[in-house]
Amino acid sequence: MKYCLGVDLGTSAVKILLVDKEGNVVHEVSKSYPLIHEKSGYSEQNPEEWFQKTLAGLTEIMEVFEGEKEDIEGISFSGQMHGLVLLNEEKQVLRNAILWNDTRTTEQCQIIIDKAGDKLLEITKNPALEGFTLPKLLWVKQYEEEIFDQAAVFLLPKDYLRFRLTGNIHTEYSDAAGTLLLDISKKEWSTELCELFGIDSSLCPPLVESHAFVGTVTAEITKKTGLSCKVFAGGADNACGAIGAGILADGKTLCSIGTSGVVLSYEEKADKDFEGKVHYFNHGEENAYYTMGVTLAAGHSLSWFKETFAENIGFDELLEELNNVPIGANGLLFTPYLAGERTPHPDAAIRASFIGMDAAHKRRDFVRAVLEGITFSLNESIEIFRASGKTINTIISIGGGAKNENWLQMQADIFKARVQKLSSEQGPGMGAAMLAAVGAGWYISLQECAEKMLQPAKEFEPIQENVTRYEDLYRIYQKVYSQTKTLSEELTQFRK
Ligand code: XUL
Repeated sequence: MKYCLGVDLGTSAVKILLVDKEGNVVHEVSKSYPLIHEKSGYSEQNPEEWFQKTLAGLTEIMEVFEGEKEDIEGISFSGQMHGLVLLNEEKQVLRNAILWNDTRTTEQCQIIIDKAGDKLLEITKNPALEGFTLPKLLWVKQYEEEIFDQAAVFLLPKDYLRFRLTGNIHTEYSDAAGTLLLDISKKEWSTELCELFGIDSSLCPPLVESHAFVGTVTAEITKKTGLSCKVFAGGADNACGAIGAGILADGKTLCSIGTSGVVLSYEEKADKDFEGKVHYFNHGEENAYYTMGVTLAAGHSLSWFKETFAENIGFDELLEELNNVPIGANGLLFTPYLAGERTPHPDAAIRASFIGMDAAHKRRDFVRAVLEGITFSLNESIEIFRASGKTINTIISIGGGAKNENWLQMQADIFKARVQKLSSEQGPGMGAAMLAAVGAGWYISLQECAEKMLQPAKEFEPIQENVTRYEDLYRIYQKVYSQTKTLSEELTQFRK
């Protein structure tokens, strides 16, 4: 039997999967690392930590793996998007990585809007949002000039990890699309945008396809881990989530709930106009695209609630309480804006709220309200897709949102669509392993690979009675943003 490794460099942990030719996960390891929040709105990580934890994970897998080491034929990567890693001439990291959920760059976004105008949407198909990479580069240029002057290249998180394993510097289109410097239709760095913002184009790493062969694991890594195999470029976590769920043809839609939550839909071309209301990125499949709406704190809202109010119990126990609470959580509503929001409200200052707290409410009402709020937020993205004429009948759900059947039913009822769960749902790590499988020549296309490796397990159909109830609640939910916007802005002065 032959195997491939898929490494998903997430926001809270790196997850490594060893997968065989049929898509069975033979070994799996996860190693977590902390977020660094120096100030409200700041979110950073130390890239060295990503590398050390990946090394430890790979070593662990190689220790338990009973087959021949040469049978592991490839490794590829998925990673949290947009994060800025800056390297100097000696390829040393110059500062902590500034992550996708860092919102310090509102000022730089305004500069981008003022300078680039319509050009930005024309070239990149995306608006200036705090999470993207270009505003982060401009922030460092403005506030850490000494560091910026030493920078020789920037990388996205998983590209840095791959560089540490191979010694080679690359990025690929699906992650480059999230920088705001890629001409996404032409698939090249935009010299026009680089010039406009004073970014030397030599700072942009060479571009390759997601399944491209980019080197082999270095002798030093082989010595440390026992692993010696070919390395393939990989993709952004959302692109890899899509690949790992078989979102590889027009009409396929994904709901992925991790730290952030996304709803994404496959696009054959980059020719639709969503006016920047949703993200438009290159897929990990060659010459394909996807559109996507993002809820910044999806799974994060639930993990925040658990850590803050239910530290000593597990997620399963917490979610069990859901069964005993009716739709609408006895009059309690939650908006998931813990870290600002992206879709449909690009607003870094907005914050979350519980509306309707009552002395009779129990913890279980809050849990239900949190899940309903996250799912409503994702539904706002689905509504944007539907308003553009897209038909969304079936949605594949992955990540934390696919782990609980009550939540899957809630998604079907709120999204008004059939929701499918996969039999062995592994999220973006599986997409990364599939890129390695195609790169290694096991399959001629990702499509063929998906047919061999992925199977749907269970479907959830909307229940009409619930649909109607949620529709009423959703109308109230949609009013909360506009009615808490000014309050959130006024509270900014009290945040640390
Ligand atoms: C997408 C985004 C997040 C991160 C999370 O634009 O910012 O989904 O990729 O890892």
